[in-house]
Amino acid sequence: MTDILQIENIRKTFPGVVALDNVSFSVAPGEIHTLLGENGAGKSTLMNVLTGLYHPDRGEINISGKQVHFTSPRDSLKCGIGMVHQHFMLVPAHSVFENILLALDDVPNFFNRSAYKEKIEKLIAEFDLELDLNLPVWKLSIGAQQWIELIKLLLRDCQLLILDEPTAVLTPQETERLFAVLQRLKGQGKSIIFISHKMREVMEISDRVTILKKGCSIATLARGDFDESKLAALMIGTDKVPQWQKSLQMSDELVLDIQNLSVQNDRGLADLDDFSLELKKGEILGIAGVAGNGQKALAEVLTGLKKTNQGKIMAGAEDITNSNARYSYIAGIAHIPEDRKTIGIAPDMDVADNLIMKSFKNRLFTSGIFQNKKAIRQNADDKIEQFAIKTGPDGTPVRYLSGGNIQKVIIARELSEHPTVLVALYPTRGLDIGSAEYVHKVIADGADRGMSTILIAEDLDELLKLSDRIAVMFRGKLIGYVDPRNTTREKIGLMMSGETPGDMS
Ligand SMILES: Nc1ncnc2c1ncn2[C@@H]1O[C@H](COP(=O)(O)OP(=O)(O)OP(=O)(O)O)[C@@H](O)[C@H]1O
Ligand SMILES: [Mg+2]
Repeated sequence: MTDILQIENIRKTFPGVVALDNVSFSVAPGEIHTLLGENGAGKSTLMNVLTGLYHPDRGEINISGKQVHFTSPRDSLKCGIGMVHQHFMLVPAHSVFENILLALDDVPNFFNRSAYKEKIEKLIAEFDLELDLNLPVWKLSIGAQQWIELIKLLLRDCQLLILDEPTAVLTPQETERLFAVLQRLKGQGKSIIFISHKMREVMEISDRVTILKKGCSIATLARGDFDESKLAALMIGTDKVPQWQKSLQMSDELVLDIQNLSVQNDRGLADLDDFSLELKKGEILGIAGVAGNGQKALAEVLTGLKKTNQGKIMAGAEDITNSNARYSYIAGIAHIPEDRKTIGIAPDMDVADNLIMKSFKNRLFTSGIFQNKKAIRQNADDKIEQFAIKTGPDGTPVRYLSGGNIQKVIIARELSEHPTVLVALYPTRGLDIGSAEYVHKVIADGADRGMSTILIAEDLDELLKLSDRIAVMFRGKLIGYVDPRNTTREKIGLMMSGETPGDMS
């Protein structure tokens, strides 16, 4: 059978950067083909070339045996290629339905709204998705927003679907659902290009895997010919993953004593409900829970982005709940936010300036009333090396960096001020396995210096590996603490669905 897609010797450069050097691979009909590679290897760029957003400097794209030259995403859509981007392109204030319509340029001016709605609802039912067409997009979870992007492609009857790190923002349950959808699409003969940094997923879903390294396709392996360690070795070279040992030196001194917090969300429901938590000095306190159970509100209250309706936050003997002291205290709290594009960075500023955003008044970076450009540059060079941040020439706006590299900029900045408390939401989301390991090491090293961390994560492996204690959240409440050295994934799973430890025997 002719391959639905065949690309050969693709090269794409940006000023000062070779994003794609030489890439060739093919996708068969009814195949799930995974692209694997380190942050900045060129995966998203390759997909943007494939969908006509970028023009390659060199190389060939063949669709079902015919060479094509795309000049815009519209051209690739006409050929049946559709993409769900790493960062969605939706209008938050519009309803789900309106957002879907916006994407369909063949909708006539006087179209039959209800017929369209019916068609969309049929798709939602067919694929067993949960989506209310009338809700404004801003009210949806990120997972639900992704369904919208997928539905747009299904409505257009795309034959090749590209999903760029779709699972980075999904809960494990949502990921399972997505995989069921992908398998069904595959059964219908559609082809899928899938991108993920999570090896477990890659092993589960891929028919074939192509590995990209520094802009080159270095190998394509079929199911049965690869396992996790082989893929990792090809991708990063096994010796690059840093090894570290977590020392156990948490003290009993309380850094934060959070008592009976209640926070209402925009919809008037409780995000935090009588929530209490104790954080000790030098502790890595893992927070387990299905996303949407109050984790984000907790982080926002602690970092001053949200007010509490009720309850107390004590820092030692001092009540910092609503006092001014809270704000100076907050200054010592670092925050790795969930939504890195909107609150994590200034997208038009370069890496150097983003790295000092929180410390621009720091004497290190000023001389007199002026900025000390040399110190700012030196700081950037150090962090770029330390965190292996892949960026373009000096002055490149951060928005041009790859997803994982933007995340590294935020982490480097937040940790550079030696905070007393780190509130980290899904800190390794979107990071390749080497970078994720490095971030784990940085958090563990911080703990050795006495930094306390609230680590909000979904990956139980990550929580079990790093945490001194794990607190489980459900519907805005603390269900209980578990000792990671003395628990099971099943027990945590049960607590995440609301069973209190007392219920379990
Ligand atoms: N529009 C652009 N201008 C300048 N450089 C760019 C642009 N788009 C991508 N790059 C650069 O191309 C390289 C490859 O980036 P790309 O986003 O393709 O990586 P990726 O493999 O998707 O990484 P990640 O896993 O972090 O998402 C990076 O060095 C990035 O900075
Ligand atoms: Mg990418």
